[in-house]
Amino acid sequence: MSTPTTNSVLSARDLTRHYSVSTGLFQPNATVQALNGVSFELAAGKTLAVVGESGCGKSTLARALTLIEEPSSGSLQIAGQEVTGANKAQRKQLRRDVQMVFQNPYASLNPRQKIGDQLAEPLLINTGLSKSERREKVQAMMQQVGLRPEHYQRYPHMFSGGQRQRIALARAMMLTPKVLVADEPTSALDVSIQAQVLNLFMDLQEELNTGYVFISHNLSVVRHVADDVLVMYLGRPAEMGPSEQIYQRPLHPYTKALLSATPAIHPDPSKPKIKISGELPNPLDPPTGCAFHKRCPYATEQCEVERPELRLIDSRQVACHHAETINS
Ligand SMILES: Nc1ncnc2c1ncn2[C@@H]1O[C@H](COP(=O)(O)OP(=O)(O)O)[C@@H](O)[C@H]1O
Ligand SMILES: [Mg+2]
Repeated sequence: MSTPTTNSVLSARDLTRHYSVSTGLFQPNATVQALNGVSFELAAGKTLAVVGESGCGKSTLARALTLIEEPSSGSLQIAGQEVTGANKAQRKQLRRDVQMVFQNPYASLNPRQKIGDQLAEPLLINTGLSKSERREKVQAMMQQVGLRPEHYQRYPHMFSGGQRQRIALARAMMLTPKVLVADEPTSALDVSIQAQVLNLFMDLQEELNTGYVFISHNLSVVRHVADDVLVMYLGRPAEMGPSEQIYQRPLHPYTKALLSATPAIHPDPSKPKIKISGELPNPLDPPTGCAFHKRCPYATEQCEVERPELRLIDSRQVACHHAETINS
């Protein structure tokens, strides 16, 4: 996944995003390195899952990928088009090509506008379709996401959380984007609804061949949707590679710990459970060396001083000095 493929719809190279934050009156500003060197390739019709604890930089990555925020450095290509240096017209097209679904669909829907009109809006702005053609397209999309024709006239508050997320997804997909970035799209939903909404995401992807970046703090949620997995820790990639590899045999102690923390239907007694103690370190004062060393049961002196780079081991990339020894 590290070499660009011809059908790559999203390509990130060493993306970083730093925030300057105030630490108090008369104190100098400090820097939060929210995102620190993330690279990946995403092909059409494939899903990259981005996982990690709250605060590890997932939403920061989502905002950079969807052009909501400029990265501090690094580069981004959407459908082969370089984002940095793009002119206004190119940016407008790029914004169409990459759409986003948020955790809380209510925040992205206008409470005072009928659902049908909200779904028709992207068509009104970006296409020359007539009113009846727009209506037809909206009705077709509504049917695709499991809404009934009479829902066209209703307002967001008249729907359940799961239905609202269907509407948000429909709206994001109206213009057939190349890429969809979904930031914890099912985390606010009842467990019973989550699977249905996940299935809908996958159905639409199959139909429209969209590349997905699917963000979740929960590894078990993305297990059945991910082709590739990127595990992040404190703004950096800890492990990244094909989904089967990562789930079958995680190599990074952090990935192991995340997987141990997720309840399994058929627990494998041969796989020792790893517990992580403590909390995510303060991003204003990140640990030296490997950012995970204070919580890692395998940490050595080297881990305290030397930051591990991503290395290719066993068909995935791992940022751990001791990946071979702890997995042999
Ligand atoms: N606008 C901002 N200003 C300052 N710090 C921010 C801002 N946005 C995010 N951060 C910080 O960046 C880090 C990553 O945040 P975020 O991307 O929201 O993580 P996640 O989505 O994985 O929970 C956190 O430490 C957060 O406090
Ligand atoms: Mg987030």
